[in-house]
Amino acid sequence: MKNIFSGVQPTGVITLGNYLGAFKQFPTFQEQGNTVYCIVDQHAITVQQDPKELRENIRKLAATYLATGIDPNKSTLFIQSEVPAHAQAAWMMQCVASIGELERMTQFKDKSDGKDMVSAALLTYPPLMAADILLYNTNIVPVGEDQKQHLELTRDLAERFNKRYGETFVIPDIQLPKAGARIKSLQDPLKKMSKSDPNAKATIKLLDTPKQIEKKIKSAVTDSEGIVAFDVDNKPGVSNLLTIESAISGVAIQDVVAKYEGLGYGAFKAGVAEAVIADLSPVQERFNALIHSAELDHILDEGAAKANAIASKTVQRMEAAMGLGRKR
Ligand code: TYM
Repeated sequence: MKNIFSGVQPTGVITLGNYLGAFKQFPTFQEQGNTVYCIVDQHAITVQQDPKELRENIRKLAATYLATGIDPNKSTLFIQSEVPAHAQAAWMMQCVASIGELERMTQFKDKSDGKDMVSAALLTYPPLMAADILLYNTNIVPVGEDQKQHLELTRDLAERFNKRYGETFVIPDIQLPKAGARIKSLQDPLKKMSKSDPNAKATIKLLDTPKQIEKKIKSAVTDSEGIVAFDVDNKPGVSNLLTIESAISGVAIQDVVAKYEGLGYGAFKAGVAEAVIADLSPVQERFNALIHSAELDHILDEGAAKANAIASKTVQRMEAAMGLGRKR
């Protein structure tokens, strides 16, 4: 039985990029092993958050996990800060990480670039992420492509720890989705679609109305050729829309291309919008039913208890391996 773990930050809105890179693949693992999914609120505070908004976003993210197909009877769903083992293990992982390797992380460089105040935690974010994963004896981590570097570092840190202190961790593998590992901005298809993009037209949000989705896809940047073909280098905008439809529908890219053969970009964009709307509508309905429910709290309480039971054992193993405290 494989162990599967992933996490999402409760910051801002959930985008179509998050949905296709992460949420859409999460439920498929429920039939394959022990699935553990986390709302990583401690990662979120590496940049300043409004406390009230963070609280709301944590709840919204929990509802999103459930609305996109996480079944609490099959998966453990919990909030990172409700399981103290994460912060405990993160400290130990910081002690095996070097400043140099943390400074090389592109996410650190991007998020610290040009900022007056860069928190120390922004630099030590990857050891916390490594702790998240390693605590659950994880074999597989489903994520989008932007997390690849963090996953490689997690593997390096786990191997280093095992070498120094004896076999303690399972070495996890990354799992990228077949399509949708890197959804691009609708306005600049060379950049990834991001929660923090200041241009509202660049990003589709999970809770956008059908009208908003239609409008954003209609105004997506393409090219002047008028031919629907997949060519990431020369037609990044069209290729991004093809990727979106393929990831949404599960239909191979070449079959999506065939569907639009001989049609112009107007019909193409309308078709992509229709596919996105059809997929997101039931998710939105479930989200709305869950967001204010007491059931949500009950699921998170149970999830924290289950996660605590596993993670605290790993922390004990780590402390014993490193020689902390008195227990072996
Ligand atoms: P976060 O919250 O930025 O993103 C959540 C998930 O969405 C994916 N993603 C995308 N996929 C495709 N196209 C995009 N444009 C796009 N944008 C985001 C991300 O790859 C991710 O899978 N560090 C992580 C959270 C984390 C974590 C973990 C993940 C903390 N601990 C342990 C896995 C395991 C992050 O910031 O993801």
